[in-house]
Amino acid sequence: MQVHRFEKVWLGAAILLIVGFIATIAYGSVGVGVGMVDDSGGQISAEEVQNGNTDTPFDDPGVVKTGDDKYTVYVVARQFQFVPGSGDNPIQVPAGANVTFRVTSADVVHGFSVVETNINTMVIPGQVSEVSARFNEPGTYGLICHEYCGAAHHTMGGSVEVVP
Ligand code: CUA
Repeated sequence: MQVHRFEKVWLGAAILLIVGFIATIAYGSVGVGVGMVDDSGGQISAEEVQNGNTDTPFDDPGVVKTGDDKYTVYVVARQFQFVPGSGDNPIQVPAGANVTFRVTSADVVHGFSVVETNINTMVIPGQVSEVSARFNEPGTYGLICHEYCGAAHHTMGGSVEVVP
């Protein structure tokens, strides 16, 4: 049976496209692609975060004073809250201090963004995201999850209170 030349060309193009897609996924899921994810804050077991037995400050997350005007804030993101941060448990830091946020997830990918600042990171289970900032202006800053994380994603938020 004779196959038309155009049909062969399109068949070849379609196969190339499929091979290209598979190669893209393979590239993203092993080796180099995984290395592109920011785990500068280190790695951690999401299951241990969920169970609260990491033997790190994430077991009792909150604000830790680490030096003169230096604070580290450990935050656990989970469906659908930040601990601390959400509800009647805002993150409280003093104005003018150097604040490092260390954020991890107990379940799925979340976002961590403090409104009106350049604090903005993904929160990936198994990894710790680290961002540093200094709040010069006292006030209440909104905190939002900006990665879709489930049915109540739009309710996932909180606040950072910068006290004078
Ligand atoms: Cu957490 Cu969206």
